[in-house]
Amino acid sequence: MKTALFLFGTRPEAIKLAPVILEMRKDPFFDVKICVTAQHREMLDQILTIFGITPDFDLDLMRPNQSLTSLTSRALEGIDECLKVTKPDFCIVQGDTTTVLAASLACFYNRIPVVHVEAGLRTYHKYSPYPEEINRVLTSHLTEVHFAPTPLAKANLLAERIPDSRIVVTGNTVIDALLLTRSRIEKGELAAGAPGIREILSDDRRLVLVTTHRRENFGEGIEAICSALKKSAESFPDVSFVLPVHLNPNVKEPVHRILGNIPNVTLLPPLDYVSFVAVMNKSYLILTDSGGVQEEAPSLGKPVLVMRENTERPEAVQAGNALLVGTDPENIFENVRRLLTDAASYNRISSIANPFGDGKASKHIIAFLKNDKLCEEY
Ligand code: UD1
Ligand code: UDP
Repeated sequence: MKTALFLFGTRPEAIKLAPVILEMRKDPFFDVKICVTAQHREMLDQILTIFGITPDFDLDLMRPNQSLTSLTSRALEGIDECLKVTKPDFCIVQGDTTTVLAASLACFYNRIPVVHVEAGLRTYHKYSPYPEEINRVLTSHLTEVHFAPTPLAKANLLAERIPDSRIVVTGNTVIDALLLTRSRIEKGELAAGAPGIREILSDDRRLVLVTTHRRENFGEGIEAICSALKKSAESFPDVSFVLPVHLNPNVKEPVHRILGNIPNVTLLPPLDYVSFVAVMNKSYLILTDSGGVQEEAPSLGKPVLVMRENTERPEAVQAGNALLVGTDPENIFENVRRLLTDAASYNRISSIANPFGDGKASKHIIAFLKNDKLCEEY
């Protein structure tokens, strides 16, 4: 039996690692341990509850409006201690957050192999997204096995001289999480239960779902996004705009100030994943700067406007499911207007297949790890 330690801390890492954890737990070859930094607190706990995951170690690191430096240093120390107690055969991280970088570095210092899920995403812009682009580049060079979601992500790693034999293209585990959750909703095993969600799901109006939280958009970018949404909502009073607002104070303040009093705009606290999937499924159009939502929307046949200047997920833009609209308010508004009024464009976009996976990524990951030399000797 090999001890695998999962290290994660935020909402998207939890969503994207949950199906891998559930799959690995089925196999007696692995002793599965979980350590959360709790870089996010409430938003992490929402996900752990839904997937029935109880951490073995909880570093409880989140502080209000935490800085990158203080979180990184506290995470590095906390994870180092956990590694010394657990002595895992290998660790699994996902994505590009502060937790991922700190965990990979702590593993390297302790000579413990790192397995990186969602490896190889790149924008090649140092400050966009900030700090994630550099987090993932550094993580790739601290990692032993790279699970790339797409062939393009693999090509990015090969270009950085990561050996071909250590990269496996699996699809993105977010599709596993999404399909699993949607099927559990359909079977009646899970129900969308967030406050106010019933009214939203039974509303006959078309629904535009919005999320925003990128650090490089703080200040001007978020103000511009909010003013585009205000103009869109005022121009289309028969459409309902729903925004689950990220708990980061740099997001909450401008969103509530600019969008707080518009009749067809509903501001909500972050939704639990089941409620969020139900709202995505019900939505007509999705506007986001989120990584995960960019991947999920095409799987549900929803056109997505990406409110960023560039994306590390160009597959959906190339396929046509996603449009990169930036943060210029006029451009955002114009694209919202077009998709709400031009049925032909809308129908074409919403019928394009999702390029991010088929829901079997976790199975591919476990099969590879079981047969890899990583699990025999290092
Ligand atoms: C983090 C990640 C980002 C990821 C995002 C997903 C980094 C640097 N950023 O950004 O890559 O896309 O999570 O959502 O790793 N807060 C709460 N409760 C929570 C979560 C956050 O109150 O459950 C507030 C706190 O004041 C916290 C602040 O939000 O200090 C910022 O959290 P942090 O994880 O540092 O940054 P995010 O913007 O959430
Ligand atoms: N999500 C959620 N509730 C919400 C908003 C988003 O469960 O209110 C989910 C969403 O389905 C996706 C993930 O959170 O799987 C994306 O997280 P986030 O946008 O915070 O981070 P990113 O993907 O940009 O790193």
